[in-house]
Formats: sequence, C-alpha cells, structure tokens
Amino acid sequence: MNMKPLHDETLYRSIAEQYGTPCYIYDADLLRGNYQQFADSFAGLDATICYAVKANGNLAVLKELAQLGAGADIVSAGELTRALKTKMKPIIFSGVGKNRAELEMAIHHPDVQINIESYQEFQQIKEICKNQPPKTPCKIAVRVNPDIDAGTHDKISTGRKGDKFGVSFDEAMQIYQEASKIPMLKNHAVAVHIGSQLLSLEPYRLAFGKVREFMNDVQQQGITLEAVDIGGGLGIAYKGEEILQIADYAALVQEFFANKKIYMEPGRRIVGNMGELLTRINLIKQSQGQKFAILDAAMNDLMRPTLYQAWHNIVPIAHNQRGETDIYDIVGPICETGDVFAKARQMPIISEEDLLVIKDCGAYGAVMGSAYNARALAPEIMVKDGAAKLVRRRIDIDELLRYEMIDEE
Ligand code: LLP
Repeated sequence: MNMKPLHDETLYRSIAEQYGTPCYIYDADLLRGNYQQFADSFAGLDATICYAVKANGNLAVLKELAQLGAGADIVSAGELTRALKTKMKPIIFSGVGKNRAELEMAIHHPDVQINIESYQEFQQIKEICKNQPPKTPCKIAVRVNPDIDAGTHDKISTGRKGDKFGVSFDEAMQIYQEASKIPMLKNHAVAVHIGSQLLSLEPYRLAFGKVREFMNDVQQQGITLEAVDIGGGLGIAYKGEEILQIADYAALVQEFFANKKIYMEPGRRIVGNMGELLTRINLIKQSQGQKFAILDAAMNDLMRPTLYQAWHNIVPIAHNQRGETDIYDIVGPICETGDVFAKARQMPIISEEDLLVIKDCGAYGAVMGSAYNARALAPEIMVKDGAAKLVRRRIDIDELLRYEMIDEE
C-alpha cells in the first residue's frame, strides 16, 4: 500500500502555511514517470496516448503531459479549450451527449477526432457536414458497447448492454456504411472503453477480441479502419491491490491490434498516485465511545469516498513514533451523514491541528470538487524539482459571490 506521504514534513508545513488547507498537491516527477511508463511499454507499436483530461484537467498537469507528447481525450467544449490551450495533440472527442456547438467545434478542427456514441449523434454530424462542410474531412470513430462487465464499481462500468455508452456492433456497422458515402467524413477508427479502475486483463481480452472480430467484419464490407481506440481504465493501488502491469496490457493490445494504429485514453493511471489532498484536523469529537476526526476537507473537495464508497489511504504527516493507534471515523464538516472519508479507520494517534494527507487523489479529485456549503474550491499546488508552485489559487466565497447578483436596496 501507498503508506507514506510523497514529500517531507517541512514541505507540507510550508505549503499549509503559504496556501492554507485543504489543498491538492501534485508531484510533477511522478506524473511524468507515469506517462513515460505508457510511452515505453507501447514503444514497439504505432500508439498515441490521449490522456483523459476529465481525470485531472489542471493546465499545469496538461502542460507537463503535452510536453511529453500527449494527446487528449476530452468530453466537453471546456475540456477542448483546456487541451488546445496546452497544445495537446491529437484530440479525441468522446462523450454520449455532445451538444450542437460542441459538434460544430469538433468537426471544424483538423486535430479533433469524434467518437460517435449513437446513430442520432451521427445524424447531427451529417447535418453539420452538409450545412457547414469542414475544410478537411473529419475523422470519426464509432464507440461500440461490447456488452462486457469490467468487474469494477457499478457507477464506473461503461461497457455493459444497458449502460448508456456506445452502440451495438450492428449499429456501428450501419454508421460506418453510411459514413463511407459522405466525403466530409473519414471512417478512421473503432473505439471501446469498458470502465474505470480495472484490475484484471480478462475484460480487456474479451472486449478486444470482439472488437478485432468486428474490424474484420467491417473490412469485409470494403471499409478499412486504420485505427483502434482502446479507451482507458487501468486501475491504481488505492489499498495495496495488485495492479495490471502496463507492459502486459501493451502485450495484449499487440496480440489483437499489431497492424493497427492505436489510440489509448488513460486517465487515472497517469495522475492518480501523483496527487494528495492535504488537510488539517479541525477537531477530534468524542461521543458515545466514538472518535470522529473532523477535517477541514470535506466531500465537496473529494467526492470519491461519498460517491463510490472509495477507499483512500489517510496518513498523518507527523505522528508519534511509539506506534500507538486508535480507531477514528474520519469525516468532513459538511451537513450530510455521507460526508465521510473513512469509517472506523485504525490510525496512529492524531490530535487537533495535525496535518493529514489523503493519498491517491490526483485523479477525479479536484476536478470533481464543488462549492457545496459555500465552501471554497481548494487550491492546487505542483511540486517540481523540490519546489512547490501554486497552479490554481483558492476560489473562495468572495470570488464565488462575484458571479451572483441581487437587486441593490
Ligand atoms: N475514456 C473514456 C471514454 C472514459 O469515459 C474514461 C473515464 C476514460 C477514458 C478514462 O478512464 P481512466 O483511465 O481514468 O479509468 N469519477 C470516477 C471515474 C469516472 C471515469 C469516467 N470515464 C472515479 O472517481 O472513480
């Protein structure tokens, strides 16, 4: 398990003093190393890493990745803006419900490939191509739903029949056939993404097998798909789980798609373990035999425990050396029973004002934050070459109130 904080005590104390808590802290070296593992493992293939911006869209994070050659997987005009601003290329536009404006932007941008997720979306794309034809043909992929259970949390499984994502193989075939008659569209790839936080290769093997077979069927119809988009989903070790080796994943991809161009959309595996949420204990409440460590961080800062009952390691920055422990419920101050980071967690003895880090928060942490309970959006800090730099300032109540208006009395 990822037991230790990434940095030394002095650094956390100075960050807490300078920027306040709660705050997110990212590690640029780990970020680059994680990306490089993908790049190295796929070096023998014609592969492009399109980082899933939704996992952590902070511009400083995107810029580091862009400098290493990353493209982007995006799901909104907002993420497109972020990817363009940091010069990520190519860009894959995924998502089950892109609006008109988003489709128009995507179709007219030469570096964007659209992953189509329904026949109805395809109709909208056709219409835009007819009314406002792009200068160069727009690359399309169809996202298939292979009806495979990824064996992960229900809310982040995406490849089962009945999940809202992708289309059946039959529908995909129909889209490719119709698209092949439209000069402004280029049938480029087939896409599949079956879920997030996968810890086994088997669901991938099943999905890739079906997709490979389907690509052969498409070929038989005289349509050549040059590329396959294998999605993302590789899990990380929140609790010491055995995780997939990227090299094994690459070998599996090679087994099925050696002669194709490959796009992949990893998110969590690139940013998950490089981020921590630094928080201070407001209070230790003792009541009816229970001890609650009430933090200054809450579910608005990190949704994952509340939303998915996700387990995150929580580590005190400096704790007593005697090895004494106690049992705590580690909670936030928000007025909801679900505002809990950990139930009955055995911890070194902790006290008011202590600093803790919540580990493995680089993915789906700050990006899912909200200002619920009129709380601030936590700042984000990046540590690079030993130095801490602010990469998003705290967005506090004064800032938030600037966007609301009332009639002056
Ligand atoms: N590609 C597509 C089409 C996706 O929908 C996703 C994630 C990814 C790639 C990246 O997946 P990753 O490599 O990060 O597993 N908020 C949840 C996770 C939601 C994942 C949504 N889609 C969580 O905190 O666990």
